[in-house]
Amino acid sequence: MIHVLGFKPARGAVSFRQLFRPYVLWLLLGFVFLLLTNAMILMVPRIINIGVQIVEGKPASMDMQSVLLWLFCLAILGALARTLSRRTLFNIGRGIERDLRNHLFYHLSLLSSNFYEKHSVGDLMSHLSNDINNVRMFAGFAVLNLLNLVIIFSGSIPILISIDAAVAFACLLPFLLVIASAQMLTGRMFHRVKEYQASLAKLTQHVQENLSGIEVVRVFHQERFEEKKFQKTNQAAYEAAKRVAKITVVMFPLTRMMCGLGVAVALFVGGREVVLGRMSVGDYVEVNARLLQLSWPAISVGFILSIYSQSCASLSRLNELFKQPPQIVDGSYSDAPITLIDTKDLSVRLGQHDHLALKNINVQLSRGRVIGVVGQSGSGKSTLVRILAREILCNEGQIFYNNVAGSQWKLEPLHNQIAVVSSEPFLFSASVRENIAFAKTAASDAEIIDVVEQVGLSDDIAGFPEGLQTVIGERGVMLSGGQRQRVALARALLVKAPVLLLDDCLSAVDSLTESKIVKSLRQKGTDICLLIVSHRLSAIRHADEIVVLEKGQIVQRGRHEELLAQEQLYSALWGIEQLQKRIKS
Ligand SMILES: Nc1ncnc2c1ncn2[C@@H]1O[C@H](COP(=O)(O)OP(=O)(O)OP(=O)(O)O)[C@@H](O)[C@H]1O
Ligand SMILES: [Mg+2]
Repeated sequence: MIHVLGFKPARGAVSFRQLFRPYVLWLLLGFVFLLLTNAMILMVPRIINIGVQIVEGKPASMDMQSVLLWLFCLAILGALARTLSRRTLFNIGRGIERDLRNHLFYHLSLLSSNFYEKHSVGDLMSHLSNDINNVRMFAGFAVLNLLNLVIIFSGSIPILISIDAAVAFACLLPFLLVIASAQMLTGRMFHRVKEYQASLAKLTQHVQENLSGIEVVRVFHQERFEEKKFQKTNQAAYEAAKRVAKITVVMFPLTRMMCGLGVAVALFVGGREVVLGRMSVGDYVEVNARLLQLSWPAISVGFILSIYSQSCASLSRLNELFKQPPQIVDGSYSDAPITLIDTKDLSVRLGQHDHLALKNINVQLSRGRVIGVVGQSGSGKSTLVRILAREILCNEGQIFYNNVAGSQWKLEPLHNQIAVVSSEPFLFSASVRENIAFAKTAASDAEIIDVVEQVGLSDDIAGFPEGLQTVIGERGVMLSGGQRQRVALARALLVKAPVLLLDDCLSAVDSLTESKIVKSLRQKGTDICLLIVSHRLSAIRHADEIVVLEKGQIVQRGRHEELLAQEQLYSALWGIEQLQKRIKS
């Protein structure tokens, strides 16, 4: 497993209970620190009460010096315990944030390409940042304030009642109203927050897509049009934020107002009791001090409920992802090396409209043989590569690796043995060397130089300012299309996988270089299963078998000479290619 998790991940939805489980002891410790903090806070009004009694000249249980000493010590120890409680409980939030992010990242790495056809990178980025952040806010900040609220209220209420039950009930009534009304608003808040988070995700997606395609926008002078589109998405996020704010702007002033009312009631009811001689000035001051201590926790109810709504909405959005099962599941079989891949009457349907991309495909890749695949654009070549690499599933038929059905194979050893290079490879914003050694970080210089030579990149790299250490920018923007493709091919060759599938991966390289590279692959890779898809027939003319695809079906197969003799699609394509060559020369 690539992740270090606090909680044991299960397939499907994740609950707060699961997230908190590994932190129960820390939660208890944080609770103990909070108890200590509040115990000290609760002692302060009583000490003040004694101080007032001393000032009034009444008999008191201690002298003024001791009162001051107590207040001083309680302030210092209270601050210490508060720091410890915040540190412990906030760390739980950070821990849960880390666990959840690791789990999501791992889960996303398991999902198949059909999932990524429906979810944009921007949307997933928003889950990884905004939603996980909201869960952290609940697990740290909101839990701390919730525990604090429970402790201080359960400590203060019995004391207030013991001083004067009638005054206590009158003063606490507004606080109860705060909690009840804030709770009522929470239900509405959940839906509005979820809408807001979805609009934020759209915004992230829009920015991400636009920045990635900035060149296209410029080339077609679509800046104004794109700006207008962005303004629309931004406006939608603004409106959604306003709808959330409509509740929060009511919630917070409401809690403040109720706290103010509590103090006013205390002044009125308690003041009258003092005037009537039924309550001492000391008790009156103590009641007021205790009410002041309750005001922040009461105000925090609004924050807690708002954060709780946001985190519930975020966890439910995250769970929509966690509930997505990987399309391709793990089996238990593994074997190495793979020396035979066999497909039996494979058919594949793609997309929401079930487009028939491949029909009744029977191909056999075996060690030492080179299979060439040709066909016009959209004929199903890449789909065949994805099926052979077990990136997607077939709808009918079966695929076997070493005569064992693909469904029985464990995915990691299977994928580790199949190297795929596509025509639009993804490179990282790192050095050429790091990109080549991506799947084999411990590769020696000699190994790197060997693959660089095989793909004909030595001269190009010699011309780079820092050779192999040259950083190539995001997605390799500082390289030409052909250089990018060859770096990707070198990366695949370095792992020496027993199966190599090249999906038109040299389309941006000139035909002479392509033929040279393919020739070298044929000579060096005699012990691998090699499949080469190419639009240039000259590159695959020496293959042991050439498969010609048309509209998802194999329409011809055989060696180059045999196919030419048949005077069908292959010979037509060959004729066009030769004509183009003659025109160029
Ligand atoms: N995710 C998808 N959803 C729906 N249809 C798809 C999807 N991917 C590919 N197709 C369709 O399947 C057919 C085969 O696509 P494929 O990419 O395999 O063609 P190809 O032979 O590799 O083409 P090219 O030479 O242009 O790379 C095409 O008609 C394409 O539109
Ligand atoms: Mg293709």
